[in-house]
Amino acid sequence: MPQGALLFQPTDYPHQIWTDHLRRLMPDLDIRTEDDETRKGDIAYCVAWKPKPGSLRSFANLKVVFSMGAGVDAIVADATFPAHVPLSRVVDDTLTQAMTEYVVLHVLAWHRRQRDLDNLQKLKKWRLIAAPRAEQVRVGILGFGVLGQAAALALKALNYNIAGWSASPKQVAGVESFAGADALQPFLSRSDILVCLLPLTPATRGILNTHTFAQLPNGACVINCARGGHLIESDLIAALDSGHLRGATLDVFQVEPLPETSPLWSHPKITITPHAAAITDPAAFMRHVANTIRRMDQNLRPENLVDFARGY
Ligand code: NAP
Ligand code: GLV
Repeated sequence: MPQGALLFQPTDYPHQIWTDHLRRLMPDLDIRTEDDETRKGDIAYCVAWKPKPGSLRSFANLKVVFSMGAGVDAIVADATFPAHVPLSRVVDDTLTQAMTEYVVLHVLAWHRRQRDLDNLQKLKKWRLIAAPRAEQVRVGILGFGVLGQAAALALKALNYNIAGWSASPKQVAGVESFAGADALQPFLSRSDILVCLLPLTPATRGILNTHTFAQLPNGACVINCARGGHLIESDLIAALDSGHLRGATLDVFQVEPLPETSPLWSHPKITITPHAAAITDPAAFMRHVANTIRRMDQNLRPENLVDFARGY
């Protein structure tokens, strides 16, 4: 029987679908959706997404925090996060599969020039647009972790020429690995389609900028499905308008929801999706929460732990 209560903290989420899953898995667990000032000491487990800074510190008996997302930047950013409390993030096949689908969809769309074909259809114009063979298209994946590697394997199966960039070198069959800051320039210069799947940290914030775009081949495309903080939006617009970049797909933005006034919405070379590339599945997430609570009851460490020193 779990010791302590679980708080489902995000107030702007329809919590019932999430908590119902957990109730079925752990009927004895005290599950709360209100942060009751007088009972903060009961909270041992907390589900968080974008917590108010300082809010997690107020639970004196907290044993673990569960991030509802794979990305933990909004939680790690809270300088008051209690240092002794482990933070467990989502690593789940359903999320990985969804991200792989998203990356494959948009790589194919830019490779096969689907936007140009859509425009021709609007004009009722019957015109062939040649596309190179997949093996002639060099896809570069910035951030070669769980999601980046899964997307790479799916693209590899379609014959794309793939490279990944990460902090430490990786060995993935048939994929070229670039690691560390010094390898960024050669990695970019061989990337016709650049996919960003980095965590947002001080080292990666703003990494998609005028300088990095200039190192991409002429006519390159950019797909950002990581975090809005990776991209300097005005630099992207300038690189597209100059003709150096051919197109971009953006799932994430500096400000979300993307304001109606943003020039990104109507840019002719930008495809926009509403931070929906890979949404956490409530059932899978709550299975992870229940398993972790059971592990901790047996004095085992939680899985998928975030390293605060790295920020991911
Ligand atoms: P992950 O497994 O932690 O992989 C992160 C990768 O980035 C690792 O390969 C890591 O290198 C690399 N990296 C980190 N900092 C770096 C740096 N300074 N220089 C070079 N490489 C660096 O993370 P993941 O599960 O794949 O998720 C990646 C991100 O996707 C999340 O953080 C989140 O922001 C985003 N995401 C977005 C959505 C969406 O719907 N749009 C959904 C889920 C996730 P090492 O392996 O060497 O450490
Ligand atoms: C979504 O953005 C996630 O980080 O899982």
